[in-house]
Amino acid sequence: MSVLAIDAGTTGVTALVVSQEGTIAAKGYQEFAQHFPHPGWVEHSPEEIWQATLEATRACLKAYEQTGGPDLRALGITNQRETVLLWDRETLGSPRRAIVWQDRRTADICTRLREAGHEDRVAELTGLRLDPYFSGTKLVWIAENEPNTWALVDDGRYAIGTVDSYLVARMTRGTWHVTDVSNASRTLLFDLERGEWSDELCDLFGVPRDALPEVVPSWGDGSTMGTTDPRTFLGLELPIAGIAGDQQSALFGQTCFDVGDSKCTYGTGSFILTNTGSEVVRSDAGLLSTAAWKSPDGELTYAVEGAIFVTGAAVQWLRDGLQIVGSAAETEAIASTVPDSQGVVFVPALTGLGAPHWDPHARGLIVGITRGTTRGHVVRATLEAIAFEVRDVVETLPSRAALTSLTVDGGASANDLLCRMQADQLGVPVERPQIVETTALGAAFLAGLGTGVWTSFDDLRETWRLDQRFEPTGSRKDADAAYARWTDAVERSKGWAGL
Ligand code: G3P
Repeated sequence: MSVLAIDAGTTGVTALVVSQEGTIAAKGYQEFAQHFPHPGWVEHSPEEIWQATLEATRACLKAYEQTGGPDLRALGITNQRETVLLWDRETLGSPRRAIVWQDRRTADICTRLREAGHEDRVAELTGLRLDPYFSGTKLVWIAENEPNTWALVDDGRYAIGTVDSYLVARMTRGTWHVTDVSNASRTLLFDLERGEWSDELCDLFGVPRDALPEVVPSWGDGSTMGTTDPRTFLGLELPIAGIAGDQQSALFGQTCFDVGDSKCTYGTGSFILTNTGSEVVRSDAGLLSTAAWKSPDGELTYAVEGAIFVTGAAVQWLRDGLQIVGSAAETEAIASTVPDSQGVVFVPALTGLGAPHWDPHARGLIVGITRGTTRGHVVRATLEAIAFEVRDVVETLPSRAALTSLTVDGGASANDLLCRMQADQLGVPVERPQIVETTALGAAFLAGLGTGVWTSFDDLRETWRLDQRFEPTGSRKDADAAYARWTDAVERSKGWAGL
């Protein structure tokens, strides 16, 4: 018995077949284009996301057939969160590109709402803050700037959704329009405590509630999320039995089922989540309160989250923007050509700053460059920046005092140098599991739990295997001195786009 999981991330789509033992039986991956129509804007073509999903799944199924498959029970979907899409309920075509979570175009709309006095109430209801990161103001922008398109949203012809909803619609030929609590709780339209769309917030943001998907539990037996249509989804007729936003999915995939369990995922950005159980824990230090998942019997689990916008994306920028590395995998070797960054500090505020600083006007900077600076120093400073950014968040976690280790996953966790830097910065060991594609794994776990592949959280816990534990080795004094330089540089990056 196995499960197909699709992780529709920010830069590409991963498809995995996960066996009952919790191993990866097959994998496919397809990157898709990033569109930057103006500075600070980030868009994706919905059709390209769908084509990448088909391509990644096709490659995964091909690899799986070679292992003697298929014996697929169900499909789980996980996705980049907050990114909003519109599509025609009949044709499934999209009238415009998706506005991506990293997009900063709504900074002024956020300021306007803040000045009108809405911030406290929005935070109280959603656990979030007024920042361009979340879906709500992106929808306001479309309504204000593309009224002809919005008229068809009001008319009921266009559906609104996050990437999970869009993929379900494409896979079921438009018969299902659903999302789960973890995705809904990132929109600014969702009442976190009540676990349902908020009429008050829909009114505030001018979003017709009927255009939004139905919110369903994060896993089920397949009767609540639809079944893939073989005519449109590569001949597969599979119950869709699990949905979660990627960071909550990674929390699930790391089997962080108990209150206080935490994980850090290094992806395009990095996201540190701590399970807070049935309680909404609020932070005044820049963390978000969010829904983690909802069980089929209606029990809601929450988390606090530190959302860092640019970590892996900084490495991608070294590759595609500066073109000083050929691949992300090369960064470890290049950074190891120098013993330290020689005073170079890179603040990768390329799309503003998220937790704990929350400054949409911040922009990236590299300071400390001298005639002796080489690409080795810049690449090393990039890896260090990731470790510093994670420390910024960990310092504010409610569980900080009790943190005895940090469990990591995601693409960049394969980088041993980064894991060592992270352990040195935090002063606690960093633990890396054997499977670091925990986001997709979580979606597989959800779908498999819904369809009897696994029967309990304990079943899932048994599949977790440690790969390596990185102990802190450097001196605290050196780590703190480097962190102090970082903190200084972060302050210099703030407000830049607003100057
Ligand atoms: O909130 C944004 C997050 O969901 C994106 O995750 O893995 O694509 O960096 P990722």
